[in-house]
Amino acid sequence: MPISERLSHLGSGVFARNDQRKVAYVGRRASRVIDAELTGRVDLLPPLLDLSLGSTDLQPPTAAIEAIAAALGRPESAGYCLHAATLPFREAVAAWAARRFGAAVDPQTEVLLLVGSQEGTAHLPLAVLNPGDAALLLDPYYPSHMGGLRLASARPVLLPLEAEAGWRPDFERLSPSQWETLKLMVLGFPHNPTATTGEQAWLDAAVAKACQHGVVLAHDNPYVDLALEGEAPALLRHPDWRRCGIEFFSFSKSWCLGGYRLAFAIGAEWLITALRQLKGVVDFNQSLALQAGAIAALEQAPEWPQRLRHVYRERRDRMAAALEAEGWPLRRPSMALYLWLQLPQVARQRGMDSESFCAALLEGTGVCLTPGHGFGPGGEGWQRLALVHPVEDLEAGARRIGAWLQRL
Ligand SMILES: Cc1ncc(COP(=O)(O)O)c(C=O)c1O
Repeated sequence: MPISERLSHLGSGVFARNDQRKVAYVGRRASRVIDAELTGRVDLLPPLLDLSLGSTDLQPPTAAIEAIAAALGRPESAGYCLHAATLPFREAVAAWAARRFGAAVDPQTEVLLLVGSQEGTAHLPLAVLNPGDAALLLDPYYPSHMGGLRLASARPVLLPLEAEAGWRPDFERLSPSQWETLKLMVLGFPHNPTATTGEQAWLDAAVAKACQHGVVLAHDNPYVDLALEGEAPALLRHPDWRRCGIEFFSFSKSWCLGGYRLAFAIGAEWLITALRQLKGVVDFNQSLALQAGAIAALEQAPEWPQRLRHVYRERRDRMAAALEAEGWPLRRPSMALYLWLQLPQVARQRGMDSESFCAALLEGTGVCLTPGHGFGPGGEGWQRLALVHPVEDLEAGARRIGAWLQRL
């Protein structure tokens, strides 16, 4: 059967393989349990501790869930939702942007509802690039940023981030001729997977380059509320944001509503119009019931991210200390939700790469991380650990990891 060549370039293999390994592990564990019951021989595997996804165990604000529940029974919640009907949502977003960044945003023309920020960043290249156009990505990158470029048959230009430089992007590494050919740059600070908050000055430098060279600047900012150290950069803080930029925000991380697929873009009118036109082919926005929940989150639970930071800070500090005590030193990240860990020395000595390490770790401990290679070539040699379980479970996981490292 015909399948597009495009699919072979999507590069989702690392994540699919990690998923398969998890399923296989759970299956093996279940059969050992049955075996033990039948034979009396006890050789059980520890339960899976899945730290491979940034899908939080923390809960959304009650106000948001109640608003969704109350709106579910309304007939209009079941209908298709055209763009015009999203105005109350867009107005709530504009008011939030004014409170949060002091930015005057026009809800009519500069805001767009999204079915998750991943949807928006993945579709944007199709709206602004022609096949073969060059687009800059940070390396390591969030995988769907690359996926979006692949879907649009664009040409990725990778800007390596380096640990020694504190993961600061050095835009001067691109030659003047590279800048001349570039059409889009996709950035995101606070940064997944390096868990680095970043600085406003880094983004300001990107805005200056984008304006100078006529490049669209897309800033993916789902972690804007999850800086543990420093202040999260935002495109909306830059006075020129509407000249060349579009910024993506999400309800998934700040309000724990990931499964509800709610996000928005704020940006230059022509970019919002282009993305909206593209999305017109693809979806009918989210239900009004879900939008009611998003509005409630913005208006009634603005302090929610602060509570989350408190929890993530404790998880970060205790898990970092636990891993260090088990012989896996790390640099403490400045943003919530993830640890970005260089492979332990013993694994490097044994020639393991990020995927073979991840597979062996799962096999030996039941703890599943994400191989850094899944975030681009710059992620090779690293693992991402998501702090999405209670601190006691994380610490127990660290002990399992420590015992396994001893055996390596
Ligand atoms: C950088 C980045 N962008 C987007 C997303 C997805 O967010 P959403 O749930 O809004 O699609 C994630 C999720 O982990 C992310 O890390």
